[in-house]
Amino acid sequence: MTPGRASGILINKATFSEKSTTMSEAPSQVEKPSTISMPSAAGANSKKPIPSAYDVNIEEILPVNPRLFSENRWKEYFQRLRDEDPVHFNQTDLAGRFWSLTRYEDIKRVDTDWQNFSSAHGIVLGFPIDAELPEGILNISTFIAMDPPTHDVQRKTVAGSVAPANLGNMEPLIRERTCQVLDSLPEGETFDWVDMVSIELTTMMLATLFDFPFEDRRKLTRWSDITFAIPQPGGVVESTEQRREELLECLEYFNRLKAERLANPGSDLVSMMAHGKDTKDLPPMEYLGNLLLLIVGGNDTTRNSMTGSVYGLNKFPEQFDKLVARPELISSMVAEIIRWQTPLAYMRRTANRDIELGGKQILKGDQLLMWYASGNRDASVFDNADEIDIERANSRAHLSFGFGIHRCMGNRLAELQLRILWEEILQRFEKIEVLEEPSRTFSSFVKGYTHMPVRVTRKKQ
Ligand code: HEM
Repeated sequence: MTPGRASGILINKATFSEKSTTMSEAPSQVEKPSTISMPSAAGANSKKPIPSAYDVNIEEILPVNPRLFSENRWKEYFQRLRDEDPVHFNQTDLAGRFWSLTRYEDIKRVDTDWQNFSSAHGIVLGFPIDAELPEGILNISTFIAMDPPTHDVQRKTVAGSVAPANLGNMEPLIRERTCQVLDSLPEGETFDWVDMVSIELTTMMLATLFDFPFEDRRKLTRWSDITFAIPQPGGVVESTEQRREELLECLEYFNRLKAERLANPGSDLVSMMAHGKDTKDLPPMEYLGNLLLLIVGGNDTTRNSMTGSVYGLNKFPEQFDKLVARPELISSMVAEIIRWQTPLAYMRRTANRDIELGGKQILKGDQLLMWYASGNRDASVFDNADEIDIERANSRAHLSFGFGIHRCMGNRLAELQLRILWEEILQRFEKIEVLEEPSRTFSSFVKGYTHMPVRVTRKKQ
């Protein structure tokens, strides 16, 4: 790995290097400023309505435009790319040369080949790897943005926390907290499912994993949110400096916890990192990077699957009815929702050498975006892929957790949380009605929801 380069945050360091970026991953109702200058926000400056995917020249399609996702127009664009140009080229001033892989098999091929396709330059679209980076970078590093051997040793140190044996121990606590949250929901009143259920449950879970002071748990939500936010007046963060300061507070907080756990070890993630032979002496920015990886990894993704499950089963009510009639389908429903939602729309790799892919010539240093959201809708693998089918035989073949050495470390935990959520929902509620279209995250990376008004009806005793 190239020193310094690898050290992006779980996205990559370019995200932290904008001096004057002006947009955030805020709800779409937040007023949008006039310019956005970061590689992963390409195309978002236009104020014009998004045209039909079939009315633009194919070479002009910029799949990374966050508006395609926040305005829920991504599907037809990716459909066209899968059909007509599955290894699609773009070049922008900020990002340089990059490719979008939209078919299932191409994505899998790249994801399982870390020798040729490196993670060490970052995992979201960033600046060209040989570009001078802007000043003011918080030089954060994390093992999702590393290659072997460093990746493997650091992953091994924390993997035990979410291994099956540990999950078995956690299940009663997850269930207890899920029940508390569901029991506290108002009946017959409109409330925001994202905030009151999805965020609350995933934040509680994180607090448990870190053995984090429970009363401060929303700090974890905040740190998760700002990690991905694109600075914007009135947005999640207003400036790069603000984010930098808040993330340094995060580091300070976890340094205090580390000191405590060095004296009194537990079985939590902070203790594991404080005592693990490969993580105990991590430089501060690597320690922070790995914390943020776990905070974001375990937060946004599961949160958006929880919201996506309620939304999706409202869109396909016959599937909800089937689930009510046959609760034994909960596990396969969970896999299907994770396919359909695809909480992280893509992961980036960087070509280590010139290589041919799908008839296109990739050059060393080119960025490649593996569009899981598109691969999961590839009709050659999934029939009626835009629809939810909770009995789909091959749901588990989805790409949402990635493949290969970086395959999601927390996938079983996420599935467990969703399974328990739905077991307890079916015990309590006759229905959960989504009252209006949810607001979607302004991002082409985190594919999720910022707000979803619902009303619940409890079962009669
Ligand atoms: C539905 C929920 C989730 C989804 C969709 C998801 C998705 C992903 C994806 C796409 C990757 C990268 C795969 C690749 O590059 O091949 C990843 C990696 C990772 N995820 Fe998750 N994730 C979820 C939940 C979680 C949870 C709950 C945790 C926390 C404990 C977690 C921790 C991680 C970590 C640590 C990595 C880095 C693994 C590595 O680089 O070796 N994830 N996840």
